[in-house]
Amino acid sequence: MSVHTIILAAGQGSRMKSNKAKVLQRIGGTSMLEKICHTAGAVSSDITLVVGFDKESVLEEAGNYNLNITSSLQPKPIGTGDAVRCGLDKVQNDSKVLVLYGDVPLIKKETLQNLIESSNSGLSILTTVLDNPFGYGRVKTNDNNEALEIVEEKDATDEERQIQEIFTGVLCGSKALIEEGLSKITNNNAAGEFYLTDLVSIINEKGIRINTYKASNEEVKGANSKQELEQLETTYRAMKAEDLFEKGITITDASRLDVRGSVECGRDCSIDVNVILEGNIILGDNVSIGPNCIVKNTNIGSNTKIEAFSHIDGAKIGDSCVIGPYARLREGSQIESSAKVGNFVEIKNTTLGKGSKANHFTYLGDTVIGEGTNVGAGTITCNYDGKDKHKTSIGDNSFIGSNTSLVAPVTVGSNTTIAAGSVITKDIPDNALGFGRAKQENKENWSKKKD
Ligand code: UD1
Ligand code: CA
Repeated sequence: MSVHTIILAAGQGSRMKSNKAKVLQRIGGTSMLEKICHTAGAVSSDITLVVGFDKESVLEEAGNYNLNITSSLQPKPIGTGDAVRCGLDKVQNDSKVLVLYGDVPLIKKETLQNLIESSNSGLSILTTVLDNPFGYGRVKTNDNNEALEIVEEKDATDEERQIQEIFTGVLCGSKALIEEGLSKITNNNAAGEFYLTDLVSIINEKGIRINTYKASNEEVKGANSKQELEQLETTYRAMKAEDLFEKGITITDASRLDVRGSVECGRDCSIDVNVILEGNIILGDNVSIGPNCIVKNTNIGSNTKIEAFSHIDGAKIGDSCVIGPYARLREGSQIESSAKVGNFVEIKNTTLGKGSKANHFTYLGDTVIGEGTNVGAGTITCNYDGKDKHKTSIGDNSFIGSNTSLVAPVTVGSNTTIAAGSVITKDIPDNALGFGRAKQENKENWSKKKD
């Protein structure tokens, strides 16, 4: 049976005190909605978002996820049961329905797969047991752990509030069963809303058993306020660090590492404090990332060291390189093996060849540099003429003296030397010395006359 996910995303989330829909609040660098949609995409063939408040922004964002997403409008936010009812229109009759809440974004794919499997006989709900269940719907069960009823906090008696097993918002069952159950819910409750949770007692009364499947506390946390959002961020951070520990990465302090994407790695990699890893990161063996670095969408080869305070985005770095401290590698930086990039060096759309060095205060843009070349302190490739970008090419084993400006387009050969302080506007052939500065003149015995 195919699985169709309905994600509830129509609420404003008034406790967020925000102009945007609650599900667009961000955790770990992406919105809650993006996280839950990708998880839904991994376990189901179709996704329907139930939208309402700020629906234009929600749909515009979801359009960029590269997933098969349709939407249904919930005209007014009159309850989670009504929201699911709106979404059911898009579901084929013979499908299973998986319901997810857009504000419960950290749920794991494996948990959902297990829940879906356990729902074969009818309906399964995902629960967890909390030390402090305040605010959540409490799940009443029989001795076989089958759910009998869910009671919302607002409607619960003191005795029911003692129940620690709570509903996570996630459930799975056949469309027919859910549709029939939802046709019977009312808004006769403390909130005056059509609760999805009433489905449980309605189906139970028909004599159909409802499985409960328990998830870990962390993955089913929801965020209704900015404080809960921060708590979710903390949980997410810990979950991502756990993934990295499992891969064998040494992390100095998991609470000071933010992984906002995916990391693949070899053995013996280490990450110091206050590091942010974003997008797709691939590390070889024995890579070390120093404190206070930001690394995004980058491949780093084995035995390479990224020193403190470096900012790297969209780079490819080879084996045995040293980058930083205070280096900035931008989109299209290709640093080949054993090369060095030092402090206050900015590199963009540039290849720095094997064993080459740019160690101090330099800008290299739209440049190709060969092997074994030394780029002196203060070298600037003047790649932009105010209108267009131009290329600089430098060969192997060359020595670019300090404070050189290379006015692109310009080609510098191999085994060349450029005198410090040069402004290079013409090509330099192999094995030549390029000298492009005013000659110094000394005037002997010249000094200001004293009266
Ligand atoms: C809900 C559950 C509660 C559960 C908790 C888990 C109900 C009645 N209660 O409570 O049992 O323990 O989640 O986190 O379901 N939404 C709509 N349309 C609506 C109302 C809500 O799309 O008319 C969406 C919201 O945008 C949100 C989700 O449904 O993404 C959950 O709604 P929310 O109001 O946050 O429910 P809770 O009070 O947290
Ligand atoms: Ca909620």
